[in-house]
Amino acid sequence: MKSKLTFIIALFFVTLTWAQSGTPTDYLTNQFHKERREALRKKMPKNSVAVFFANPIRNRANDVDYVYHQDPNFYYLTGYSEPNSVLLVFSDNQTNMEGKTYNELLYVQEKNPKRELWTGIRLGTEGAKSKLGFENSLNGAAFLKSGIDFYSFDNVLFTDFEEDVRNAKNEEADLYKLIASFKSQIGYNIALETANNSNFQNENKQKSISSKRANINVSALESYMASLREIKSKEELVLLTKAIRISAVGQIETMKAMHPGMSEAEIQGVHEFIYKKYGSEYEGYPSIVGGGNNGCVLHYVENSKTKVDNELVLMDLGAEYHGYTADVTRTIPANGTFSVEQKLIYDLVYEAQDAGIAEVKIGNSFGAPDQVARRIISNGLLKLGIINRLEDARIYFPHGTSHHIGLDVHDPGAYNAFEENMVLTVEPGIYIPIGSNCDKKWWGIAVRIEDDILVTTKGPINLSAEAPRKSDEIEALMKQKSVLDAFSLPKLD
Ligand code: GLY
Ligand code: MN
Ligand code: MN
Repeated sequence: MKSKLTFIIALFFVTLTWAQSGTPTDYLTNQFHKERREALRKKMPKNSVAVFFANPIRNRANDVDYVYHQDPNFYYLTGYSEPNSVLLVFSDNQTNMEGKTYNELLYVQEKNPKRELWTGIRLGTEGAKSKLGFENSLNGAAFLKSGIDFYSFDNVLFTDFEEDVRNAKNEEADLYKLIASFKSQIGYNIALETANNSNFQNENKQKSISSKRANINVSALESYMASLREIKSKEELVLLTKAIRISAVGQIETMKAMHPGMSEAEIQGVHEFIYKKYGSEYEGYPSIVGGGNNGCVLHYVENSKTKVDNELVLMDLGAEYHGYTADVTRTIPANGTFSVEQKLIYDLVYEAQDAGIAEVKIGNSFGAPDQVARRIISNGLLKLGIINRLEDARIYFPHGTSHHIGLDVHDPGAYNAFEENMVLTVEPGIYIPIGSNCDKKWWGIAVRIEDDILVTTKGPINLSAEAPRKSDEIEALMKQKSVLDAFSLPKLD
């Protein structure tokens, strides 16, 4: 009883400290990451090791870096969000010098109070143990002389390198050095090394060393990870659904706030402010807000038009919540009413999207929504006289209709048949740039409607359905007042 009471008091203080720290608590659990490593292990061949590296830090300019974003596979398997780290997952138990067995090793950034003053707290090895549940965690420097005999494995699984990582002079074990060390430990760069190293000028010596290469496999790991990540667990669905609902609210509030005097950047700001209000840390991809002809650029990110006027505004934005990103597009008339031509194009895309969503059924091929959406759009463009031949429809609908979403906006997957708990977009579009080979009245119209669909045994569930997509529902919502109507700022000279 006493120990139970002590436990309850301790828990109370732990909870209090946690709550007082004011940070969210609804992250993926250690158990989730552990299970994912276990699931990967089951896919790996016997006597193999999978090696994952953290994402590089990207420099923006001079001494300013972009906000760091962990590699999604690394995050999925560890929950660790710092750079300069390596994860090893072994298919079979290994034994260390002291006779202790282990089947995974996490090499993390070493704690460094001076650097932490500038860039924030590092978990270090102790944190990796206590906060992430990694029993075997070491500093990155230990990987530089890991002593792991990579030659003894039948498969050393990793994703090949892009040669785009900077060498950070002030870090002892930065990603650059970790990768260089790994390459040397597996004999990846042996030819280069022997050529540059005078000790290896002897031809015979060169020969024996060149033949010493680990059994590297740079193709299988990606597909193992894709097959894991394409099916979302319950925990993932909670976070992903939250990101999607936040993004839908962003669309709703922007529909209410929209008027022709707004700039593309201001519209972007309304969405992103709402994301932050709900605790979303980032955007899952650079926000796309294209007024009129700008909407014809599929990934338009300048958002630099100062006034959207009476045009359509294509808004493709997604909140990222604890790593999981939505991908939701709405296209609305800035003045609240679709013109005749805008409505004809809009309703055609809507019809194609609705039919596409209905195809998201277990067992259907991943391409099924695209096939039906493309057929409807092609026939519609022909009927409207925008094209004369069905095969020209691709000019105005030049992209695919669906992709998985998750930790990546374009999430990996096998892209075969639909299975329960996949989440994918259905996003047909029609884009008619100024100067197109059709009547001028269509020029500058760009429409994409994009929703995030969960595959279930009971059929598709539209997770972004809160944001209206029917043209008359959009017009009705746009008539509502917005709290932003009263938001006025002083004029700056
Ligand atoms: N937002 C990028 C896409 O729709 O695929
Ligand atoms: Mn998309
Ligand atoms: Mn999108």
